[in-house]
Amino acid sequence: MLETAQKLNDGIETRLAMYRERRDALKGADRYFYLQATTGPVNHVAKMADGREMVMLASYSYLGLIGHPRIDAAAKAAIETHGSGAGGVRLLTGTSDLHEQLETRIASFSKREDACVYSSGYVTNIAIITGLTGPGDLVLMDKLDHASIVDGCLLSGAKWKTYRHNDMAHLEKILADAKGNYSTILVIADSVFSMDGDVMDLPTTRALCDRYGARLMVDEAHSIGSLGATGHGIEEHFDMVGSIDLKMGTLSKSIPSIGGYLAGSRDLVDFQRHFSRPFIFSAALPPAQTAAALEAFNVIEDEPWRVQALHRNVDRYIGGLKAQGWDTMQSTTCVIPVLVGDEDLTMDLTRMLFDRMIFVCPIVHPAVPKGTSRLRTCLMATHTDEDIDRALEAFESAGKELGLI
Ligand SMILES: Cc1ncc(COP(=O)(O)O)c(C=O)c1O
Repeated sequence: MLETAQKLNDGIETRLAMYRERRDALKGADRYFYLQATTGPVNHVAKMADGREMVMLASYSYLGLIGHPRIDAAAKAAIETHGSGAGGVRLLTGTSDLHEQLETRIASFSKREDACVYSSGYVTNIAIITGLTGPGDLVLMDKLDHASIVDGCLLSGAKWKTYRHNDMAHLEKILADAKGNYSTILVIADSVFSMDGDVMDLPTTRALCDRYGARLMVDEAHSIGSLGATGHGIEEHFDMVGSIDLKMGTLSKSIPSIGGYLAGSRDLVDFQRHFSRPFIFSAALPPAQTAAALEAFNVIEDEPWRVQALHRNVDRYIGGLKAQGWDTMQSTTCVIPVLVGDEDLTMDLTRMLFDRMIFVCPIVHPAVPKGTSRLRTCLMATHTDEDIDRALEAFESAGKELGLI
């Protein structure tokens, strides 16, 4: 017993030592960019806790809805009427009329019979995968799917495999080999990939699922509010409404709150309300966040200019970067990687952009494969032409100084 405890401590000490070494090296070189505190609502410009104002080029708030007066008013009103907490888990004492209204609203926005909400997007993926698959089932996912999908597979006990990123021939080969060997085959893809900013091939994935008898789940974390002419997501983008079996989304990106949801058929959603463990064993969304999310879906439909402005901004920004000679990979969306390759140069570029008051995030291994380090930049509907031009100027001068363009 003592020996086991000693080994465990040694393991933890080794991890801490490795972490300290890496952290101190980054801090010593003035290349530590994590946990930067902002103050006030984050919009196209972020006020840092130390008073600096930076062009925000890394927020998931694609429609610029954080601090929207209607959404804030809904949250405040919910505190007045319902208080600050839900007081329990959804299945038992935690469900309120606000949750029911939000779920009805998500179902109508998603054009599905029903929807259920969870306390985060991360938890939602775990809830869906562990609720619906287990030993004897197969989950197939795109190599670049979000970590929460991997974690859901690990917990579910189902067999899982990845197919090469957006490689439909590879997906078909695995499906053909798997056919008949599993009770359920579930294919899962991100709609917009969070590190590369490209879009899944919904038409081919759907066709393959039909051909091989698989169910299709899509994670719409980065497409709600951003894809499609009115921001309704990937099905609107491809004009394929109704084609996804399990639509998962988050309430923490274009929707400025916290939480996640599953939208689908009435039976499927009701099953999840009774059998998915996070619905039964984790506390319900608090009233303010529930009401804020509910109002945000209304605002997206009432203010279509936001989605249009976002699409315009994406075109202006990607066009500008490409003209300077940057590689923005396959992105056509508001998630725009600026590929650098080398990790140290990525950190140098980040430093130079920070010094020019542009807030960006460096993404390095293991979040992305070695040799593909990048800045992952994100655009918002509320960015002005001036913000975008300031960012482009900063990229140009820093990129030239580093010999990257
Ligand atoms: C594709 C994808 N799915 C799920 C999540 C988790 O969502 P949340 O942050 O709302 O828990 C994220 C978070 O960034 C994501 O990018």
